[in-house]
Amino acid sequence: MSNLTQQTILSVHHWTNTLFSFTCTRDLGFRFESGQFTMIGLEVNNKLLLRAYSLASANYEENLEFLSVKVQDGPFTSRLQHLKIGDKVYIGKKPTGTLVVDNLLPGKTLWLLSTGTGLAPFLSIIKDWEIYDRYDKIVLTHTCRFVNELAYKEYITLHLPMHEHIGEIIREKLIYFPTVTREPFQNRGRITELMETGRLFTLLGIAPFSSENNRIMLCGSPNMLRDARKLLNGLGFLEGSNSVPGHYVVEKAFVG
Ligand code: A2P
Repeated sequence: MSNLTQQTILSVHHWTNTLFSFTCTRDLGFRFESGQFTMIGLEVNNKLLLRAYSLASANYEENLEFLSVKVQDGPFTSRLQHLKIGDKVYIGKKPTGTLVVDNLLPGKTLWLLSTGTGLAPFLSIIKDWEIYDRYDKIVLTHTCRFVNELAYKEYITLHLPMHEHIGEIIREKLIYFPTVTREPFQNRGRITELMETGRLFTLLGIAPFSSENNRIMLCGSPNMLRDARKLLNGLGFLEGSNSVPGHYVVEKAFVG
């Protein structure tokens, strides 16, 4: 347990019957970079179960926030989803991950492409004003099957632009592009298809990807990551890592 601290649940929000988020207290010594993940631990029958979760809160916020699926018979989330205010969870002391801006070469536009709970690390990134200093624009895309799975849509479109400290930079630099694949919505289709056909760039009025100007972070379902990687590699983009920066970086969305 020495790699973990015990924290207290402060709020729980159920978005749908398969998606929820929660906040918990933050250890004073806990530091992380926007985009990283850490371990969450739960005690089940005197055993500790651990899963990786991206931090959805900004690194300067007082509390920690996480976004999770609910898998009905999943050993972890079938329990995690029943968390209540005042319950205890364990939080790993050592955050890590590849979705950090230092793993990218300098560029003009930062694209954050997510599906499902892959949105989580990007919530942390879009609240980090230091990241806006590095780019002219940040484009966040979120693809889900259904409209009600577009978690944080109102927060991103209504609340963040009014944020007392970062509202101005959000209004100037952040573009949010939600898309839905299985029911009618203002934007429809998989992000990979929208990229391939060029519709994404037409709709946003932004020049298509070039490895010279665009930097990309991907987080979501393994199939989306596979297809997007293929597309980007075909355009000559190089994948970055914690040892060598590149044009794009990848993390799978954690499920459990
Ligand atoms: P689709 O509804 O067409 O499968 P999931 O809930 O399965 O994790 O998927 C989340 C979102 O990611 C869905 O909107 C899904 O679209 C989309 N998706 C699934 N596979 C791919 C892929 N290979 N490329 C792009 N998007 C994908």
